Amino acid sequence: MAAALTSSEPPLDSDRSFLRIRGGYPLSGELRVSGAKNSALVLMAACLLSRDSIRLRNVPALTDINGMADMLESLGGRVERHGDALELDGSGINCSAAPYELVNSLRASFFCIGPLLARMGMARVPLPGGCKIGSRPVEEHVKGLKALGAQVTIEHGVVTAAVPGPCRRLKGARIVLDCPSVGATETLMMAAALADGETVIENAALEPEVVDLADLLVAMGSRIRGAGTPIITIAGVDHLHGADYAVIPDRIEAGTFLLAAAITRSSLRVAPLIPAHLCAVLSKLEQAGCRLDHDDEGLTLSAERIIGVDLRTQPFPGFPTDLQAPFMSLLATAEGTSMVTEVIFENRLQHVAELQRMGASIRTQGNTAFVEGVARLSGAPVQGTDLRASAAMVLAGLAAEGTTDVYGLDYLDRGYANLEAKLNAVGAAISRCDPTLKAGASALAA
Ligand code: UD1
Repeated sequence: MAAALTSSEPPLDSDRSFLRIRGGYPLSGELRVSGAKNSALVLMAACLLSRDSIRLRNVPALTDINGMADMLESLGGRVERHGDALELDGSGINCSAAPYELVNSLRASFFCIGPLLARMGMARVPLPGGCKIGSRPVEEHVKGLKALGAQVTIEHGVVTAAVPGPCRRLKGARIVLDCPSVGATETLMMAAALADGETVIENAALEPEVVDLADLLVAMGSRIRGAGTPIITIAGVDHLHGADYAVIPDRIEAGTFLLAAAITRSSLRVAPLIPAHLCAVLSKLEQAGCRLDHDDEGLTLSAERIIGVDLRTQPFPGFPTDLQAPFMSLLATAEGTSMVTEVIFENRLQHVAELQRMGASIRTQGNTAFVEGVARLSGAPVQGTDLRASAAMVLAGLAAEGTTDVYGLDYLDRGYANLEAKLNAVGAAISRCDPTLKAGASALAA
């Protein structure tokens, strides 16, 4: 991998640096949205399917992207970054065993199992395990690979999959997913792309990242129909060629930026974004009293009063679980009561306790939070407990009276490229402090 990309991820929570946010500043101007992290990660895995070079443009500069690059290189691939583009060369892929440390630190790298199996006829990938938001099972991936003809065993925490027979080629099949898992849909689309015959995935995930993957695979020579609907049909081909492809804008980052405007009762343009990717979020923002003015490339959100709304997370096109915590920060400052229900992940209300430290009035019952808006949040030291909870803390800090120190930056840096620089450019007052450095110490004193 090119030097600029080399960075082994520190173990989570090892980093005690924090963001110091002085709250209460109105924001104005424009926030630019980077390429979608969740798309870019899976598109990088898809490059394993071809011996030709793939150029991916609009790839965000994130530690998770570096982690996936490390994974591809550990398998024999080459990854180079040129600005916001990655050149991925899969000609040298010679290893079908993914290292534990990389899968452990980047869950999405488990999705390599599909393309590895399709390309090499075998794959050994450690189970990614759970994470703070839930248990994160992968049985749908495994069931689907078995349906495609792989023999799969799970022993000592490692999934070993092999295609029997002399040609080691997966065979097209009908697969009905028990739940519309994004990762399983993507894994199986990649596995089926080089299979012999046609694969039909029913109850497939509808997320825009699935469509982005299909579009890349088609650009590489795949024959795929129905991505973005519950039934995806993939006619396997003998080989896939190189491509030059731009990743879609990150709908979760875009949503976070719109919420930054709303929580500071400001007016901000957010671009580029694809409104259809954010339909449930935009509708909730409008219900909450925000004004949205669409233009060719993005939209401007203007907020004065925010009224409480109820929301429930759902698979796409419903309200995304990844924006539940950030939206709750907004609702903590709204007029009236809101009810927020998380149904995708079983442990994704941990930000409630942190918001309470900032003066939010929230009580939980099971997977539902009842949020009574308060006139003002007050700054406090808080811990982001996962990527999106960390973003929720930053949003709360922007609106709070006084100073908020947000810890858990390992998480934040995994999913938001240059977050504090972007927000400072529109009027926020955020500094990154590292207590172990002299400079950090002076920042702390300031
Ligand atoms: C992806 C996103 C993540 C997002 C999530 C839901 C990436 C890298 N991550 O994660 O940011 O929050 O979609 O939109 O793209 N499930 C099973 N069995 C399985 C697989 C999943 O029961 O084999 C369940 C999960 O426990 C969860 C639900 O399905 O309740 C959704 O999970 P899934 O769509 O698979 O999420 P990921 O692909 O891991």
